[in-house]
Parts: sequence; C-alpha cells; structure tokens
Amino acid sequence: MELPFAESYKIKMVEAIRKSTREEREKWIREAGYNVFNLTSAQVYIDLLTDSGTGAMSDRQWSAMMVGDESYAGASSYYKLKDVVRDITGFEWFLPTHQGRAAENVLFSTLVREGDIVPGNSHFDTTKGHIEFRKATAADCTVDAAEDTTLDHPFKGNIDLLKLEDVLSSYPAERIPFVIVTVTCNSSGGQPVSMDNLRAVREMANRYGVPVIFDAARFAENAWFIKEREKLYSDKSIKEIVREMFSYADAMTMSSKKDGIVNMGGFIAFRKEEWFREASVYNILFEGFITYGGMSGRDMNALAQGLVEGTDYEYLRTRIRQIEYLDGLLRQYNIPVQTPVGGHAVFVDAGRFLPHLPREEFVGQALVVELYLEAGVRATEIGTLLADRDPETRENRYPAVEFVRLAVPRRVYTNNHMDVVAAALKNIYDRRDEIRRGYRIVKEAPIMRHFTVELEKI
Ligand code: F0G
Repeated sequence: MELPFAESYKIKMVEAIRKSTREEREKWIREAGYNVFNLTSAQVYIDLLTDSGTGAMSDRQWSAMMVGDESYAGASSYYKLKDVVRDITGFEWFLPTHQGRAAENVLFSTLVREGDIVPGNSHFDTTKGHIEFRKATAADCTVDAAEDTTLDHPFKGNIDLLKLEDVLSSYPAERIPFVIVTVTCNSSGGQPVSMDNLRAVREMANRYGVPVIFDAARFAENAWFIKEREKLYSDKSIKEIVREMFSYADAMTMSSKKDGIVNMGGFIAFRKEEWFREASVYNILFEGFITYGGMSGRDMNALAQGLVEGTDYEYLRTRIRQIEYLDGLLRQYNIPVQTPVGGHAVFVDAGRFLPHLPREEFVGQALVVELYLEAGVRATEIGTLLADRDPETRENRYPAVEFVRLAVPRRVYTNNHMDVVAAALKNIYDRRDEIRRGYRIVKEAPIMRHFTVELEKI
C-alpha cells in the first residue's frame, strides 16, 4: 500500500486555545462593532484572520534568534540575511524594513509622484493605499478570469497583457514609475502568476521603458504553483523557479510575515545600486539605519532561516496540501469558493453564498460575522468593506467578487481545525435563507476603513 502523505515536521511546543459559547460570542461581536479586528484573540477559537505574522517558527529559527547580533551598524545578522536574500532572489542590493507596507513606503517615496499611474494585478490594500496617498492611481490589470469564481484557470493572478498595454500606451513612460506584480495575488484569492506571464510582462515593460517590481510576500507559494501547474517547470526545483521569477523584476518589496515565516519583518531588494542609494535615505528616515531598518538582529537571523525553510519543497507541499484539504471539504459541502484554490487561503464567494443579500449591506462581512457566531472562527472580508470608497467620489467601490478569506497560518493548525471550519460553514450554508439582512456603517476612517470600521445590524 502506498504510504499516505504527512506533515514534514513534528510539533515541539503548543499553545492552548479556548472555545466559547454562542452567547459569549454574540456579546463580544456586538461590543466589537461587528468588526472582527476589534475582537481580542482570547475571544477567538480558530483564527484565520490572516496568514501574516501568525506562523509558527521552527526550532532552528528560535535557535538562530539566540545568536542575533544587535549592533546598530554592520551587524552580522544583517549580512547573513543579505546573503540569503541574494542567494534566493538574485538581487544584490537589500534594505531591511519592519514589515511589507514599510518597504512600500520607502520604495514608493523614492519612485512614485503625484499624478503617476501604477499598473498591476489587484494591488494589495496597503500597496494601493501607498499609491493613492501620494495622489497617484493604481490601475488594475488582472485577468478577467479572476472575477469568475466558477471558472477553472490555473493562473488567476496573471496580468492581462491587453489591459497592461492599454495603460502603458496611454501615458508617457515618465508617468509610470513601474509595473507592480503581486505574487501570489492576494486580492484575487492567493492566485498565482505564471512564469510565462511574468516573462511577458517584463518584455512589454521593456518595450515601454518601464521598470517592473514584485510585491513578493508569497513568492514561494507562487513558485509552488508554477511547478505544479506550468508544464515546463514540473522538473525544476523551487529554488530554480524562484530565481527565474525574480530575474524578471528590477526590485521587490517583501512582507516577510508570510513566506519568510516570521512574526514581523520585511525588506526591499534591488538590482540597481542607484535605487538602493535613493531608497536608503528614506529607510534611515522612516525605518532605521540601513543595516537594520526596523528589525532587531535576532529577527533578521530568524528571517534568514525562515526564507530557507519557506522555499523548501517538502514544507511547501505540506502547506499547500492543508489549504487543498480545507478547499476539498468546502467543495464537498457545495460551498462556493474561488476555483482553483490559491496558496495561503480558501476564498469563499459570499455573493454566491448569500445571493439574496444586497451588496450595500456588506455581504462578505455578514458571512464573517455568522462564521464567528457559529464556531468562534475569525475570517476576513475581502469585498466592499475593504475596497473602500473611491477617493474622488467618496462612493463605495464594489469589487467584482465579495470574498470571505479563510487565511491559514503556516505550521499552526491541524486538519482537525480545518474540519471545524468547514463544518461551521456547512451549518451556515444549510440555513443561509434565514440570514435576511446585513450591516450598515456607523463609523469609518477616511482610508483603509475595514481595520477600524464600526457597524450595526440592519
Ligand atoms: N503585499 C501583500 C500581497 C500583502 O498580502 C500584504 C499584507 C502586504 C503587502 C503588506 O505587508 O502586512 O507586512 O505590512 N497582507 C496581510 C494580509 C496583512 O492579511 O493579507 P505587511
């Protein structure tokens, strides 16, 4: 008999989690203004809010922390991390930052000016925030396939080359500081970008004299899908695939809290010294000296080791298998999800789950609240709440799909936890017709409202 698949690690330390009663949860979520960001972690049983900074570090990462070098300038931890980044990505120049959005802040301070256009594939919300904050515009060029959750397309993170060409040919090159490709594309469902697409984007950008940047938070998961879904790459190693991916970019921003498997950290890496020099000024201003940039030496050590583990084939296999496991259960229960499953999460199509709810009532958020009430599972809305208002008209922006994201932290939960999540969603699905109304906003911030918004039941 063929031996079954099992995790590529065993567990050395555990953390207790606690169930609650439905009455407790009703009280807590009301007090939280029906915003799960306002819940305390003790009020949550299974936390799928994000896969960002929530992973479990390995024994090797913890031991690397003990030998961190905390020198202000020139710490060995910095050089160790710089070497690993160069080895994995091929980029010579490197700046640590305290997290991904800090990398965006530093790099965009260097490159983005008022009135600029930044084309990309469904820019992540902080990326878009940093573009719009500078009075520039993010132009979404994602393939249309990403918007149809029933359509099976192996690379729903891809850039639509016609859309990209339309943007590149409509503005002078000086108005387009770069094309940004997010790998994997979080907002469309943790969906990968194919190597073929990365190469084509590079070629097109070259023709227009525009640089290419990767938002690389989940680059290793992207490489996994290239290996799995793109014929020419099935025999290549993850390392080879990652190297080729980055060969098509001029620079990258990284939230290390994802595929770096650390709880905090980020970086920028560059091919050109000139960009590195210019960005260093902003790094010193916003983050810290160039050899620590908001990270302690021990954290840089843990990240250096985390990047090695995060690009390991067996680790990635374990990781993606768990997402596929949850996806498989939900499909078995007929719950509408993004097809095919992506890397870090299962994205439920709340619009198809609760088709009778009007979009003005925040369909995704209504499902997020139901899931919390049902089982103490915390998910997140990637829909109208997150899409926020148009900066000009101040009207709600309605994205193509109202998603609820079940983001799975790395190396944290077992498949038994996934069983609970799936069963909770099945129970809600069985009684979905009883969910008649959604939510209205009581209080909201002028930008990135979903983090702090307060809602009330209609
Ligand atoms: N880019 C992508 C694609 C992201 O998913 C994130 C964060 C960032 C940039 C910003 O990085 O959080 O380190 O500042 N995503 C988290 C999430 C918050 O839940 O998806 P950060």
